[in-house]
Amino acid sequence: MYRFLYWLVLQRLPAEGTHRVTFALWRALVAVPGVAALVQRWLAPRDAVLRVHAFGRELPGPLGLAAGFDKDAKGVRALLALGFGFVEVGTVTAEAQPGNPKPRLFRLPRDRALVNRLGFNNDGAVAAAQRLAHRPAEGTIGVNIGKTKRVAEAEAIADYTASALRLAPLADYLVVNVSSPNTPGLRDLQTVDKLRPLLAAVRDACDLASPMRRVPLLVKIAPDLADEDIDAIADLAVELGLDGIIATNTTIARAGLATPEPRVAALGAGGLSGAPLALRSLVVLRRLRARAGTRITLIAVGGIETADDAWQRIRAGATLVQGYTGFIYGGPGWPRRIHRELAAKVRAAGLSSIEQAIGADA
Ligand SMILES: Cc1cc2nc3c(=O)[nH]c(=O)nc-3n(C[C@H](O)[C@H](O)[C@H](O)COP(=O)(O)O)c2cc1C
Repeated sequence: MYRFLYWLVLQRLPAEGTHRVTFALWRALVAVPGVAALVQRWLAPRDAVLRVHAFGRELPGPLGLAAGFDKDAKGVRALLALGFGFVEVGTVTAEAQPGNPKPRLFRLPRDRALVNRLGFNNDGAVAAAQRLAHRPAEGTIGVNIGKTKRVAEAEAIADYTASALRLAPLADYLVVNVSSPNTPGLRDLQTVDKLRPLLAAVRDACDLASPMRRVPLLVKIAPDLADEDIDAIADLAVELGLDGIIATNTTIARAGLATPEPRVAALGAGGLSGAPLALRSLVVLRRLRARAGTRITLIAVGGIETADDAWQRIRAGATLVQGYTGFIYGGPGWPRRIHRELAAKVRAAGLSSIEQAIGADA
């Protein structure tokens, strides 16, 4: 039904406006007393074989919603109700900012892909913290932080730590995003020389803000890194005792698309997500696993559309997987479908828990 609705109506509407309206409608519906519980009973993963342990928590299933969908932590409850095992909010920046001029989000349906150059449009860390103060206690929520655009690179550490101080106490895990292509210079922070002091400072900020509970800290990396840089980040993560790496963000590459080249070129700059990203994200994941082994928890994201994709990432070493574009094209039934099919795969492999499959192909 969603696919028919998508084909008939949604694909003809501007992408960003459609996202805003459908998300607001879903939040309003789930706010009606009793609806959240009803929907959750229907959609939430309840099969015991799907349970995963990560970051000191037990998650009902390994598939989460990737960062960028709920940048301002407006609808965590509504998104968890759809059957995601966890939700990552953000990217949140220390200061509120409008993002880039519109239009800045585009569909490439022939490629089951999106191009976005939103540029971290968000209400800022104070507003996100106010919303997260009312977060549900049950359900795992990651918070993804990034650099405020107007802040110079030399001040980046202070900007990230300002966000960490506010948001770490409210997060089940915190992500340092240094991989969005839409904030000038951001990805330069991925070089180890810059990343080491940044991650160390954010770690300190987490411990200062949350002295009683050690908040797990992760870094999210780009798919466009050279192999040596991926290895260097894996080594750094181990050295710093980081809790995890999220691989990957969107790509600036445009190779191998079915959408005609002039149309792609006309869209302009931005990060490409969805099916065309899948192979590169998998390669990055495999490289991280080969380098860091089981010392770092890996979250795989990029082009995951089917249970086969998710299963492949888990077997390659991902403890958790995330999706954004697959959810846009797959609709509200997508998380439930993936979880249900994953549970079948666990059983077909003769396993009693999906955790037994993590890294099986590594
Ligand atoms: C519209 C859009 C906005 C995004 N915003 C963010 C963001 O704010 N922070 C972030 O870390 N990743 C962001 N991402 C990247 C996703 O979290 C994910 O890493 C990427 O899209 C690859 O996954 P996918 O192929 O399942 O979409 C965004 C992606 C899209 C499509």
